Amino acid sequence: MAKKLVKEYYSEQGVKEWRRLIRDPYHQLEFDTTMHFLKKYLPKNGLILDAGGGPGRYTIELAKLGYDVVLLDLTPELLKIAKNRIKKAKIQDKVKQILQGSINELSIFENHKFDAVICLGGALSHIVNRKQREKAIDELLRVAKGNAPIFVSVIGRLALLVTALVHFPQEMENKKLFRGYRDKGDYHGGYGFAPCHFYLPEELRESFEKRKVRIIEMVGLEGLSSSHPKETNRLFKNNPKAWKVWWETHLKTCTYPNVIGISEHFMIVCKK
Ligand SMILES: C[S@@+](CC[C@H](N)C(=O)[O-])C[C@H]1O[C@@H](n2cnc3c(N)ncnc32)[C@H](O)[C@@H]1O
Repeated sequence: MAKKLVKEYYSEQGVKEWRRLIRDPYHQLEFDTTMHFLKKYLPKNGLILDAGGGPGRYTIELAKLGYDVVLLDLTPELLKIAKNRIKKAKIQDKVKQILQGSINELSIFENHKFDAVICLGGALSHIVNRKQREKAIDELLRVAKGNAPIFVSVIGRLALLVTALVHFPQEMENKKLFRGYRDKGDYHGGYGFAPCHFYLPEELRESFEKRKVRIIEMVGLEGLSSSHPKETNRLFKNNPKAWKVWWETHLKTCTYPNVIGISEHFMIVCKK
């Protein structure tokens, strides 16, 4: 049921989802920061699984960098957009497969197939059932080669609470709904967003730590800009010199535990 709601939500997003990461400088922070850390830890070449890759923004960027990529996503409408964009970018030969499927069931792939695995932008968050979410983590690790880097970014719980304060305080009157995501991180859909598990950083870390993988880094993707889209966009537009310093400040601070905690999205980088 939850999966159906997620699929319905993303089917309706269409081109909006393709534009999500380049909508404005604030949203671009998620993309640029993710790319910064992908470039830092990816091997020089190889086959990457983009699991929950949606309309394929990372797939295309990585293919342009010379990687072979397999794109998998739950939502056929987004994969249709991905196919068009991949064709437009003329990188069809680098995108080896485009598959519809769920990250918690990757049996189409043998163990240790990929040189790197990415699961970005909250695809994991959209599995609300804890057991299924844990299964997805097992699957993402299973299909990665020994020593392959695995990058998973999720949606943060504390930033959501700030967003509720700023944009939808009336939700606090719905105690069941609000306490559900405040205390457990679980939101079951029905109020304008797809079902979602909002993570605390320690929760994500523990999920990987107990599987005995090596955690290399955790990163707050919007970092200190989190919950300040207007101010971030204004700085980018009005003061390019200060923006350069802010980006430098962001890279210096985005791995601080407190900054990860307040980020709208945060990412774990680990190796098997
Ligand atoms: C916010 S989008 C992120 C897309 C892309 N990774 C990015 O960062 O731009 C979330 C994506 O997760 C996908 N998704 C949600 N649940 C999924 C599941 N169980 N298996 C695979 N993909 C899933 C959705 O279809 C959607 O494309």
